[in-house]
Amino acid sequence: MFRYYILTLVLVALTVQSIQITCNDPEIRRCGNASILIDVGGNAVGAKAHLSCFSGYTLWGNDSIVCLDSGKWSQLNSYCIPDDIGDPNIQSFDGSLYFFNNITLRNYNQAKEYCTTICSTLIEINNQEEDQFLRETIKNLEFETAEVWIGIESVNGENFSWQSGNTTLTNMYDNWKEGDPPKGTCAFQSRLKTTWTATYSSCVAPLVFVCEFGNN
Ligand SMILES: *[C@@H]1O[C@H](CO)[C@@H](O)[C@H](O)[C@H]1NC(C)=O
Ligand SMILES: *[C@@H]1O[C@H](CO)[C@@H](O)[C@H](O)[C@H]1NC(C)=O
Ligand SMILES: *[C@@H]1O[C@H](CO)[C@@H](O)[C@H](O)[C@H]1NC(C)=O
Ligand SMILES: *[C@@H]1O[C@H](CO)[C@@H](O)[C@H](O)[C@H]1NC(C)=O
Ligand SMILES: *[C@@H]1O[C@H](CO)[C@@H](O)[C@H](O)[C@H]1NC(C)=O
Repeated sequence: MFRYYILTLVLVALTVQSIQITCNDPEIRRCGNASILIDVGGNAVGAKAHLSCFSGYTLWGNDSIVCLDSGKWSQLNSYCIPDDIGDPNIQSFDGSLYFFNNITLRNYNQAKEYCTTICSTLIEINNQEEDQFLRETIKNLEFETAEVWIGIESVNGENFSWQSGNTTLTNMYDNWKEGDPPKGTCAFQSRLKTTWTATYSSCVAPLVFVCEFGNN
């Protein structure tokens, strides 16, 4: 009888242990020097992991994530922005963070590459609200150039897609001038216009550009 009692206790103890919720170590978002460093304080529910950046970069967003009841870490919505551009112009809208780079002007390809190296993409405009947010921001802030690169491009000059692979061919939001199919390989939004402009020749012009974080 006593033996069974012990055995039951052991089984109960094992069961309790096995259903205790823990979080696996969080996945690290790697992108070179702009990677987020995660210092995990523990794996139990409620434990925090502290976030930071390599030197030369500043963390934007929450400086920790927490292990939730679900056994998952809270969403990591923080990013490392390089210090070498001075006081960065960062705006948030509808869950994404936007970095308006008004300091190191780049041509289209360089701008795209710049955003990629800091774990972002050139802005992808998915709806009218986001489009309006962009237009209003560049109108109100009057950056160095009237035009800013947006992340839509074309290989054949006619069919456009975003860096994520989303295209404007099916159902997707677009804002080209009505009745005027876009022709070009890259595109910008000008603060002087309400629609996007596609271009072939101007893709080499150094412009202000917008990196979007959290679009994945
Ligand atoms: C990352 O930082 C190191 C040391 O500061 C530097 O040598 C290297 O060029 C940087 N890499 C990139 C991609 O910026
Ligand atoms: C920031 O993280 C804390 C936990 O570390 C969480 O309670 C809070 O909701 C987070 N805030 C945002 C904006 O994600
Ligand atoms: C792709 O387009 C859909 C529909 O507009 C949108 O919900 C989704 O967020 C887009 N993907 C990215 C990475 O922006
Ligand atoms: C853009 O950069 C220029 C030159 O550094 C600066 O004078 C201006 O204030 C900046 N504009 C905004 C809106 O950040
Ligand atoms: C480009 O888009 C048109 C429809 O607007 C379609 O008929 C054509 O097949 C597409 N071309 C390519 C190369 O995807």
